[in-house]
Amino acid sequence: MSASRGVFQAVVSANRQIGARFYKLKLEFSGAGAKAFASARPGQFAQLDVSGAALPPAEKIPEDLADVSRREILLRRPFSFTDVTTEGNKTVVEVLYCVVGPATLRMTTLLAGCTVSVIGPLGKGFRVPEGKNRALLVAGGMGAGPLQHLAKVLTSDFGSIDVTAFAGAKTVKELPFERRLDEISQQLGFWIPEFGKYGVNSMLATDDGSTGFAGPVTDCFWEWLGQEDLNTREVIVYGCGPEPMLARMAEIAKLKNIDCQVSMERRMACGFGVCQSCAVECRTAGSGETIYKLCCEDGPVFDTGEVVF
Ligand SMILES: Cc1cc2nc3c(=O)[nH]c(=O)nc-3n(C[C@H](O)[C@H](O)[C@H](O)COP(=O)(O)OP(=O)(O)OC[C@H]3O[C@@H](n4cnc5c(N)ncnc54)[C@H](O)[C@@H]3O)c2cc1C
Ligand code: FES
Repeated sequence: MSASRGVFQAVVSANRQIGARFYKLKLEFSGAGAKAFASARPGQFAQLDVSGAALPPAEKIPEDLADVSRREILLRRPFSFTDVTTEGNKTVVEVLYCVVGPATLRMTTLLAGCTVSVIGPLGKGFRVPEGKNRALLVAGGMGAGPLQHLAKVLTSDFGSIDVTAFAGAKTVKELPFERRLDEISQQLGFWIPEFGKYGVNSMLATDDGSTGFAGPVTDCFWEWLGQEDLNTREVIVYGCGPEPMLARMAEIAKLKNIDCQVSMERRMACGFGVCQSCAVECRTAGSGETIYKLCCEDGPVFDTGEVVF
């Protein structure tokens, strides 16, 4: 492992439920961990060991997870960050997570003061190419997490770049946000407080039309692109979400000739290039051949032009 990453003990400073299955976990690092995570970039991730966390009481286990809940947690689990802040000699990393299986179920019982073993920061995050003055962030479901971190960094470190965010889910209850802004804020285009707090305009989409645009977030994005007069060479699109959504973003980027980076997900055992479990098929420049890159080391962020969806 490189000097900037390692295995660190983090202390849980908060673990708050923000929706039926959504939680925000804050991990506080000191010493070498604080130094390593202070420079964590949006789109990077960490491997959390939650094998020691307790199961919630039976009545708090969702019915669909009852069977899998008792499975032993042998492997660490990868999570990206919604925010990274430094306070004195401490670094606090915020993770937005959704309860989908045994590890994330156990994570819900982590209390403030618990320690968690964390490997990170890992992978390569989102990059900001030269000459861009417009960034468009497109999130599907939990993909909103790392794009919030990206919105913060783009607005604080790249002031000349104008940022707009799009976020979607199947239905309003599956949008991983704490609350929506009032009607006036929505009329001004600030639908999502998590982006609005950085001055970033945002739009919501739900497949069932329960809020915002009715349809997939990629349709909302496509329709919006059709109404804008953009100099596409100056635009960069960033995406994070389920793979079919990322594949559609790759099509849109190709059609419009816009640079696009997406954060890919693979099942990960090690997270740092040893187990080879996280292959992503990629094109090689100038030939019709493809090669396998590692999601954990070469990604998780890839240019859509290189990925074979
Ligand atoms: C780079 C990266 C960053 C991630 N960031 C976040 C995050 O910020 N917040 C968050 O909630 N989740 C994130 N995930 C996904 C998270 O790692 C899984 O949800 C978690 O490992 C599930 O563990 P579990 O034991 O609760 O459920 P499991 O039983 O392991 O999985 C439950 C279901 O989710 C599917 N699944 C689990 N992991 C993946 C994966 N990596 N790719 C595709 N399908 C998967 C499984 O096939 C299964 O159907 C990220 C994954 C990657 C690779
Ligand atoms: S997760 Fe082990 S090589 Fe990528």
